Amino acid sequence: MSEKAKTTISVIKADIGSLAGHHVVHPDTMAAAAKVLAEAKSKGIIVDYYITHVGDDLELIMTHRKGVDAPEVHEVAWNAFKEAAKVAKELGLYAAGQDLLTDAFSGNVRGLGPSAAEMEFVERPAEPVIVFMADKTEPGAFNLPLFRVFGDPFNTAGLVIDPKLHDGFKFEVYDVIGGKYVIMNLPEEMYDLLALIGTPGRFVVRRVYRKSDNEIAAVVSVERLNLIAGQYVGKDDPVAIVRAQSGFPAVGEVIEAFAFPHLVAGWMRGSHFGPLMPVSQRNARCTRFDGPPRVVALGFQIKNARLIGPADLFDDPAYDETRRLAQTIAEYMRRHGPFMPHRLGPEEMEYTTLPAVLQKLQNRFVEAKLYEVKGPKVKTELLHE
Ligand code: F6R
Ligand code: MG
Ligand code: MG
Repeated sequence: MSEKAKTTISVIKADIGSLAGHHVVHPDTMAAAAKVLAEAKSKGIIVDYYITHVGDDLELIMTHRKGVDAPEVHEVAWNAFKEAAKVAKELGLYAAGQDLLTDAFSGNVRGLGPSAAEMEFVERPAEPVIVFMADKTEPGAFNLPLFRVFGDPFNTAGLVIDPKLHDGFKFEVYDVIGGKYVIMNLPEEMYDLLALIGTPGRFVVRRVYRKSDNEIAAVVSVERLNLIAGQYVGKDDPVAIVRAQSGFPAVGEVIEAFAFPHLVAGWMRGSHFGPLMPVSQRNARCTRFDGPPRVVALGFQIKNARLIGPADLFDDPAYDETRRLAQTIAEYMRRHGPFMPHRLGPEEMEYTTLPAVLQKLQNRFVEAKLYEVKGPKVKTELLHE
């Protein structure tokens, strides 16, 4: 029996410049990218594509037969971004070409500025896939919802009820600072997993597999642009792909995890915590204080590597309360102004423009006189003799 053809879905994104500051992608830049993808489709490099934007990020959703990290496909994406950036420069859009850190393409967009999430699988008879795209936040923003989707029975009823999900899932966690990854099994290693991914700025859920047969279930883009570029060049507004139904969590279970607008790092200047607000494509544009951070979910059926859809999954009154709560949280956080915990902590601020400000103050500090402490510093009833 011949092996079944595999389908790859590649979601590759970049901020190539936007309209009125970092607000929204201009339609002419999307048209320029579409031209490149249409040509690649006619040449058979990709089978299908869908182009959209979330805030100031241009998003290329492509299907093909060439597998993950295929140089040809990455080159198509790179050329699409280049052409779009050219138009952005002509129009004088803001931060034109921002995420294209080099002029020379070298086989893969990773490390060059754009971010990518890709997965390859043999299509099931009906293959529902959800593409999540966020703006003004970082890849670790998906840690909490992905844990809830694949690890928390209070979110995903199927983990308890459906024998096909009951064995649990494997999480691949990537350490973006150490450049290493670890695979953890759920539910057995749940506490260990949480000990890591509760630090989303460092440990990022990169892939999820179904434990019983190693089928790929989810993938997240994990590039950290500031670590690649060595300076602050914007947050790595992330994308994720999640397969749903028939042995995976249902579409409703997957998007249920976003009904809680949890706090994520990003927002203004990539330096503030704010709520992740699920929005429709229509509202995929950041406004207040360059935010708040938002996420769009597009649902597709994939058939013979064709993209059928999308369905705009958060375009629903059922998410109105989530959005209202996000506004309340946004207001509460904003009132802290430049204070933590609205502003990120010092470790994360290392990668922003703040060190340049602090540098200037360095010479103004005067050595403080230290008094030698004699005997025990503090004595309370709580201390045993
Ligand atoms: C956050 C973001 C914006 C900018 C801010 C300052 O990811 O893109 O909040 O950081 O608008 O932008 P510049 O430094 O370009 O004036
Ligand atoms: Mg921008
Ligand atoms: Mg962005």
